Amino acid sequence: MAKLIMLCLLFLSFGFALSCPDDQKQTLLQFKSSILNNSTSFLPSPQGLHSWNSSSDCCQWMLVTCSTRSMTFRPVVSLDLYNFVSSLPPEANPVDSSALSPLFRIKSLVMLDISSNSIQGMIPGDGIANLTRLAHLDMRDNSFNGSIPPQLFGLRNLQYLDLSSNLFSGNLSKEVGSLKNLKVLNLAENFITSEIPPEIGNLTNLQKLSLRRNNFFGGIPQSILNLRRLEALDFSNNSLSSEIPVEIGSLSNLTSLSLSKNRLGGGIPPSIQKLSKLGTLQLDQNLLSGAIPLWLFDIEGLKILNLGGNNLTWNNSAANTSSTPKCALSRLLLRSCRISGHIPLWLSAQDSLIFLDLSENELEGPFPDWLAELNIGTIILSDNKLSGPLPPRLFQSLNLSVLALSRNKFSGALPENIGNAEIMILMLAGNNLSGPIPQSIWSIYRLLLLDLSRNNFSGKLIPSFNPLSLLAYIDISSNRLSGDIPASLGDRTRILRLGENELSGQLPPNLSAMSQLEYLDLHNNFITGNIPESLTQISTLQVLDLRNNSLEGQIPEALSDIPNLRILDLSINQFNGKIPPKFGNLKAMAERRDLEVSLSDIFNFQIEFNDLQVIWKNSLQGLPNHNLQIYSLLDLSINRISGEIPASLGALKGLKLLNISHNNFRGGIPSSFGGLENLESLDLSHNNLSGEIPQTFANLLQLNTLDLSNNKLSGPIPRGSQMDRLIGSNNYANNSDLCGMQIDKPCPELLPPQHSPEPEEDRSKDSLLSWKATCTGFPVGLAIAVLVMYFSGYFSLPPKHHLRSQRHRSSRRH
Ligand SMILES: *[C@@H]1O[C@H](CO)[C@@H](O)[C@H](O)[C@H]1NC(C)=O
Ligand SMILES: *[C@@H]1O[C@H](CO)[C@@H](O)[C@H](O)[C@H]1NC(C)=O
Ligand SMILES: *[C@@H]1O[C@H](CO)[C@@H](O)[C@H](O)[C@H]1NC(C)=O
Ligand SMILES: *[C@@H]1O[C@H](CO)[C@@H](O)[C@H](O)[C@H]1NC(C)=O
Ligand SMILES: *[C@@H]1O[C@H](CO)[C@@H](O)[C@H](O)[C@H]1NC(C)=O
Ligand SMILES: *[C@@H]1O[C@H](CO)[C@@H](O)[C@H](O)[C@H]1NC(C)=O
Ligand SMILES: *[C@@H]1O[C@H](CO)[C@@H](O)[C@H](O)[C@H]1NC(C)=O
Ligand SMILES: *[C@@H]1O[C@H](CO)[C@@H](O)[C@H](O)[C@H]1NC(C)=O
Ligand SMILES: *[C@@H]1O[C@H](CO)[C@@H](O)[C@H](O)[C@H]1NC(C)=O
Ligand SMILES: *[C@@H]1O[C@H](CO)[C@@H](O)[C@H](O)[C@H]1NC(C)=O
Ligand SMILES: *[C@@H]1O[C@H](CO)[C@@H](O)[C@H](O)[C@H]1NC(C)=O
Ligand SMILES: *[C@@H]1O[C@H](CO)[C@@H](O)[C@H](O)[C@H]1NC(C)=O
Repeated sequence: MAKLIMLCLLFLSFGFALSCPDDQKQTLLQFKSSILNNSTSFLPSPQGLHSWNSSSDCCQWMLVTCSTRSMTFRPVVSLDLYNFVSSLPPEANPVDSSALSPLFRIKSLVMLDISSNSIQGMIPGDGIANLTRLAHLDMRDNSFNGSIPPQLFGLRNLQYLDLSSNLFSGNLSKEVGSLKNLKVLNLAENFITSEIPPEIGNLTNLQKLSLRRNNFFGGIPQSILNLRRLEALDFSNNSLSSEIPVEIGSLSNLTSLSLSKNRLGGGIPPSIQKLSKLGTLQLDQNLLSGAIPLWLFDIEGLKILNLGGNNLTWNNSAANTSSTPKCALSRLLLRSCRISGHIPLWLSAQDSLIFLDLSENELEGPFPDWLAELNIGTIILSDNKLSGPLPPRLFQSLNLSVLALSRNKFSGALPENIGNAEIMILMLAGNNLSGPIPQSIWSIYRLLLLDLSRNNFSGKLIPSFNPLSLLAYIDISSNRLSGDIPASLGDRTRILRLGENELSGQLPPNLSAMSQLEYLDLHNNFITGNIPESLTQISTLQVLDLRNNSLEGQIPEALSDIPNLRILDLSINQFNGKIPPKFGNLKAMAERRDLEVSLSDIFNFQIEFNDLQVIWKNSLQGLPNHNLQIYSLLDLSINRISGEIPASLGALKGLKLLNISHNNFRGGIPSSFGGLENLESLDLSHNNLSGEIPQTFANLLQLNTLDLSNNKLSGPIPRGSQMDRLIGSNNYANNSDLCGMQIDKPCPELLPPQHSPEPEEDRSKDSLLSWKATCTGFPVGLAIAVLVMYFSGYFSLPPKHHLRSQRHRSSRRH
């Protein structure tokens, strides 16, 4: 009998040796079904949960690892559920954190990775407290919210904790210090608002610590100096103030220190020179002051140095006399560090350099030949005082992707060989460059952005686009280009600015080939003829500025079919005929719509614009750039448009500015104008409008600029909260018989009909009421964009998400 029992036991334990504990298997199956909600349509991807079926051993399942320590008992020790959502049907609902609850019964877990799954809701604190053996917990890149449960900090065996890229908010628990065995703590990219708890210094085994992109405030706790094993420390993009701890150099194993984008003051602590393993030092965008210490360049392993955007200074004479630096940098960013004189010569020995940003300094002298020969990928020298011609050697480089030299004093012609370059972004705005634009520039096949504005380029503009051209942004405004508007333009162009040149001839008939065009600016040229039908077929158009040309004919009714058109400036031309009544259908002017500026699609981030400057009676009004997409403007002033004002214009509720002054409109002002509820500026002056000002003007609660002068209006000026503020005779001068408190003229009970003399045609320059959109924001905005791109490593690394999953995969296997 005993033998039989022994045999049975042996058999049973043999059985256990092959399979995982049944309760854990059931638990995992339960987890699977709660995730899938019994969905049958999930994809049989090899990474998926499809191998989890009740007829097999869970130790054989994918994503599951069982203990191998014992032959008799094989509990589940590891679950690698990274991005399991990718095997769910795309229409599946986001997974709720409650679906995780079965997992908290598998107490044998040592490794749990549920990263990149868009899981929503709070981390169940009681559940996680069950997993006391966990050494590795990766929950990054989900949508966990609420606060981080304090129970998590009770998991004494944790070595690796990554909670980054979630939606955690609230204060970080002080119990963080109890995780004594932690090696990696990553809480980056949440919304945690608190001081960094000093107890973090109890985690003396930490090797990597990232609290990047939260709202930590206060000082950096001295206790981090206890973290002697620390190799990577990232506190960037918080609100930390005070100074960098003087003794930071005692963390002698540090290879990477990132404190960018905080409010740290004081100087760069001298102890940093003791960090002999330092490879990355990023202290940019703080309030650091004092001189940039030259010993930094003698840290042999230093590869990435970013000190831009502080209040630091550069001692030129010291730099000149010091010996050759020992470091071999790959990225050097010293934006706004008051570097004067020539571009430092010692850089010529830095032949590993792939990224150089010395913008916003006081550099002068020529673009050095040695710099052209270094084969750097990104050169940003904007906003200095550099001069002379651009060396042709620069454009032979196969590595140069970004060249930003805007706002210097470079002169001469662009080298003919520029077409050999592999450049993606070329920004040369605001220099003294002259001569023709080399034809070869249009054959740079990687070119995305070309900004040659505000130079002295002349000659005809004859771009010949490669059909595969990616060029999305072209700004050649404010030059002296002449000849016709080019007949063939790039199909992928989104922003085309050719304003303030000497272009003539008619608009080409094939404009609709630019099927992605959003912004067309041709103002201040000599363009003649009509608006071609093809222009009205560009449905992506948002901004059309044809101000101050010699265009004529009727305003095409089909413009009103462009659904996204929100800024239309046709002022100072010779348009005649009537305003098409269908203009009341201009969708983007009728509704307030938040249109994305989709250049961000290309660059994968949001672009910022400078204020759009609007001149109104010589006073400059800026439309804040972050709101530019909600502004909508219609300016038809200084033309020969006649007829009555269509009442349908009153439907353009989104309009902020309406200017139809200096035309030949007659008849009354439509009472529907009272519906222009967002209107801030209205100019109807210098027409032949008659009758009374509609009482509905009392509804224009945003109105702060009004010009009705030089018409034949009569009767009482409406009252109302804004109308009562718009006082002064200038707004109403030269009309037939207006009265009201605004012009200090009491209204009689009954108004006898009166006639006044015809107002004289006044087209003189000083009464020019047009707004002037200078829009300098695009180039500046893109400079910001470029900055963002290089901070995200855009130009030297594979795309971010790609990199991320790669990095993830490899780190996970270790
Ligand atoms: C699960 O499926 C049922 C019916 O198929 C549905 O009513 C329910 O909303 C689903 N639940 C979740 C969380 O998706
Ligand atoms: C899935 O189906 C089983 C029975 O077929 C049922 O017991 C279970 O509740 C279902 N799960 C969900 C999440 O609907
Ligand atoms: C269960 O999965 C195993 C492999 O893991 C497979 O061989 C078996 O056919 C599956 N059984 C069913 C019923 O799907
Ligand atoms: C913790 O584990 C126990 C035993 O497996 C289980 O009954 C309990 O539900 C678990 N707690 C949570 C919150 O999941
Ligand atoms: C967390 O997210 C869920 C679902 O997205 C939401 O219902 C809940 O209110 C959020 N909780 C907190 C504290 O933000
Ligand atoms: C976090 O703690 C600070 C003080 O330590 C307090 O001022 C703040 O209100 C707290 N924030 C939250 C969201 O609890
Ligand atoms: C951190 O360490 C200090 C001193 O070593 C100790 O007094 C404190 O209790 C520790 N805190 C935690 C949360 O372990
Ligand atoms: C800094 O972090 C905040 C979130 O806390 C984010 O909105 C912002 O874009 C970040 N800034 C930069 C420059 O990364
Ligand atoms: C620093 O790193 C070295 C090599 O990785 C290691 O041997 C040493 O123990 C570390 N120092 C500390 C204080 O952890
Ligand atoms: C920058 O530093 C100088 C001293 O080097 C100081 O006088 C000045 O106030 C600082 N400016 C700011 C904005 O902190
Ligand atoms: C530094 O040296 C360069 C030549 O190498 C010279 O042109 C420059 O004037 C020097 N600057 C200072 C501040 O001495
Ligand atoms: C610049 O460096 C020189 C030589 O090292 C030194 O004599 C001078 O005092 C320094 N100037 C400043 C403002 O630090």
